[in-house]
Amino acid sequence: MPQASSKTRILTGITTSGTPHLGNYVGAIRPAIAASRKADAESFYFLADYHALVKCDDPARVQRSTLQIAASWLACGLDPAKVYFYRQSDIPEIPELTWLLTCVTAKGLLNRAHAYKAANDANRANGEDADAGITAGLYMYPVLMAADILIFNANKVPVGRDQVQHIEMARDIGQRFNHIYAGEYFTLPEAAIEENVATLPGTDGRKMSKSYDNTIPLWLPEKELRRAILGIVTNSQAPGEAKNPDDSNLFAIYRAFASADEAVAMRHAFAEGIGWGDAKQKVFERVNAELAPLREKYDALVADPAQIEERLRAGATRARALATPLLAKLRHAVGLRALNDVAANSGQSRARAEKPALQPVVFRDGEAFAFKVLDAKKSVLAEQGGFASPREAMHEAQAAMKKLEAAI
Ligand code: TRP
Repeated sequence: MPQASSKTRILTGITTSGTPHLGNYVGAIRPAIAASRKADAESFYFLADYHALVKCDDPARVQRSTLQIAASWLACGLDPAKVYFYRQSDIPEIPELTWLLTCVTAKGLLNRAHAYKAANDANRANGEDADAGITAGLYMYPVLMAADILIFNANKVPVGRDQVQHIEMARDIGQRFNHIYAGEYFTLPEAAIEENVATLPGTDGRKMSKSYDNTIPLWLPEKELRRAILGIVTNSQAPGEAKNPDDSNLFAIYRAFASADEAVAMRHAFAEGIGWGDAKQKVFERVNAELAPLREKYDALVADPAQIEERLRAGATRARALATPLLAKLRHAVGLRALNDVAANSGQSRARAEKPALQPVVFRDGEAFAFKVLDAKKSVLAEQGGFASPREAMHEAQAAMKKLEAAI
């Protein structure tokens, strides 16, 4: 295995194009931080700001989002001394690897990416050119993501279902590089889908998502959080009517924050016919109890961007200590080498480089024909004469070459 560490490497990126909401907290931030505390894991969490540029061309928004997301993870308890926490654009090895990978990536593979195909389909449905308004950035998104993952030889990549294809592509691309350059340069990553992490419903009952405009921002001040929770859509059952918790987005949100006992008590209250207004107040209190102390930390962190900047840079320095030597090896493997580096056969590209190019030569030798087998330096490795025809000599030369190759 190319990696020295025996710990499982867990890596995930967060695109810095928005503000975190309760769904991100429950579905990604909280479980990831819990996983990072396990002793058998080595975690890599990074701010995917190069990916943000694919979606967002508002520079102020990219910067603001990077600050907010970094502050969110730190406020929620991510310990930057225990994990690798960095910003993608602080690791120049990532875009450099992106190019090396681009050159082994089949264009057809990228044609099949869901996000690109969906954009194509939408254009066609509108009667436009299939590629109208689609940037090469969107097209290359999966290769950049493969570089994020492969540069640190990650084993597991926790992602949502919509990202699974990207992890499969990272495997394909890594495998292809390993094959072409005949070495185990990259660990092949696997997607880790958290089955038991519920997707949080939004205020309208559909999955909480920016694209549905039904989110509750994670760091709303208390009063606004309360107002947002009071705005969650419920059915029209009156107080006193028994309510079904399994059919209620309000209950689903409560459960994501409650202990098992609290959830049982709330089920009971539903059966007893708690009014929606009272239920919402309880949900607000429970959510706020968890978030209030974190919110205080978040506010302090956001007010001190210099401190966050420093932590991210320190994280990048640690991460680059891993990325730089791997990239050096990869550059060598593909032939980006110092010109006075004559040890062309050294390093990992063994299988290819060490195989000397053998060459058969057939020539007339008096009345008969003969062959020689030469290596790359024109040394004679085999020679034999006495053949009746050049064809026969060539045939024997090739047999001799096969034997020599097998012996090397
Ligand atoms: N594409 C991911 C998303 O939209 C973000 C991301 C970028 C990522 N690079 C990554 C996730 C590497 C996991 C690993 O959610």
